[in-house]
Amino acid sequence: MSTPFVIGVAGGSGSGKTTVTRRVMETVGEQGVAVLAQDNYYRNQDEIPFETRLKTNYDHPAAFDWELLRTHLDALLAGVPIDMPEYDFTQHTRSARTTKVLPGSVVVLEGFFALYDEELRRRMHLKVFVDADADVRFIRRLLRDTGERGRTPESVISQYLEFVRPMHLSFVEPTKRYADVIIPHGGMNEPALDMLAARIRTTI
Ligand code: C5P
Repeated sequence: MSTPFVIGVAGGSGSGKTTVTRRVMETVGEQGVAVLAQDNYYRNQDEIPFETRLKTNYDHPAAFDWELLRTHLDALLAGVPIDMPEYDFTQHTRSARTTKVLPGSVVVLEGFFALYDEELRRRMHLKVFVDADADVRFIRRLLRDTGERGRTPESVISQYLEFVRPMHLSFVEPTKRYADVIIPHGGMNEPALDMLAARIRTTI
């Protein structure tokens, strides 16, 4: 098997990373793509009281298990399937389940810190940063977190002001400089998504 083509898909929370990743999957065919969602690599917090978990800064690099993520990416690059942890946003820790991820001709690492770690960047053949205005990202997040992640509007707002916004400016936005491609207007950008799909088709 030849070395998989590794794509990093970064961008702020609510920027449209999932839409971009979905388009990659449609382009390659689901069977050919292994998706590592960085959210699944939040540190396990089973031993930490729930009240403390509520106060964790989930937008800081220290919240992630980088070692496990690197190990899993390397396994997929070596053609070995992995058991990806599953994250439970309502409990702020890993769930008891894992997902088997099979190696593919393309590996996508998707997450707001996808371009943060130098070790991971070195393994990537294409680095994408999905961009969207802060107000759009916030509105999307508000709708998603109240609808799917069991949050109240007040908690989404206070988390955004205390953690998400400052961490985005300090740690996420600066990784744009590592991107080969910056997609403006997030997942709503058909021409950019078409170009990305064309590039992937010619490469794999
Ligand atoms: O899918 P998305 O990239 O938006 O998910 C990342 C966001 O999830 C982070 O900005 C973080 O604030 C949030 N998060 C959370 N509670 C957790 C873990 C992450 O609100 N327990």
